[in-house]
Amino acid sequence: MTTTTQRVLLCFCSLIAFFSNIVTPEDVGSNNCSSSTLTIQELSSQLQKAIQCPENLTSQWGNSETATVLNSLITLTDILQKNEKAVCQKVEPKECPAALAQSKGGIVCVTINNKRYCKPLCNQGFDFAFLRISRLYEECSKDTEYKWTTQYIGGNKLAVCQKSSHPIAGGEKTYFAKDCLTTKSNSTLENQLVKEFVSQLESKDIKGTPQHSCLICG
Ligand SMILES: *[C@@H]1O[C@H](CO)[C@@H](O)[C@H](O)[C@H]1NC(C)=O
Ligand SMILES: *[C@@H]1O[C@H](CO)[C@@H](O)[C@H](O)[C@H]1NC(C)=O
Ligand SMILES: *[C@@H]1O[C@H](CO)[C@@H](O)[C@H](O)[C@H]1NC(C)=O
Repeated sequence: MTTTTQRVLLCFCSLIAFFSNIVTPEDVGSNNCSSSTLTIQELSSQLQKAIQCPENLTSQWGNSETATVLNSLITLTDILQKNEKAVCQKVEPKECPAALAQSKGGIVCVTINNKRYCKPLCNQGFDFAFLRISRLYEECSKDTEYKWTTQYIGGNKLAVCQKSSHPIAGGEKTYFAKDCLTTKSNSTLENQLVKEFVSQLESKDIKGTPQHSCLICG
């Protein structure tokens, strides 16, 4: 299992452990959504609390409890990741397929003058599989026959990020300070990233009102 997955699992493990005193196994299994009152604020705040003292939680678990929790978490992670990847699918130009965010990174996308531009970024500790120093963005527009330009043959995958202790293959501002989800979880950081991309495009003479901007994490 990768570190990120482990980290995500740890988060949710802690969370579920935190909730285990109020949510009984019967509640979880009964699929009764009408009685669910959990808000995102509660979830988020309990999660933060749980992360701060994981030892206290994990020391209470037996093997089968750990397995039960892991099982739920993998399912939940899967659901959340699908939602995350569905972000920004209905944008202009409509003829363009949605670009796919690579794992261990993400893509920041924006539409300017009915052309869609996406810049791939890698997480810290990862680097692009192909050199793309002079390749800031990929494009999908009428000019590209509504297909994504990419270094990969066909498809909508724009880049691949692989483990590397010395990232060198990407251009300026193509690496996350930490990782995509960390940036995305802070709207200030996300907005800053979009602004940076727009100004990078401007410096390449791509100017106009940016629309449908978004950050998609892989
Ligand atoms: C679900 O929970 C609500 C509130 O606790 C209850 O009124 C309802 O009957 C339950 N529905 C089912 C299908 O168990
Ligand atoms: C774990 O819980 C005990 C009390 O049960 C508390 O004294 C201790 O500070 C807690 N540890 C952490 C890391 O929160
Ligand atoms: C978001 O990031 C900024 C810049 O690093 C930081 O100052 C701010 O505290 C962060 N906000 C939250 C809610 O974490």
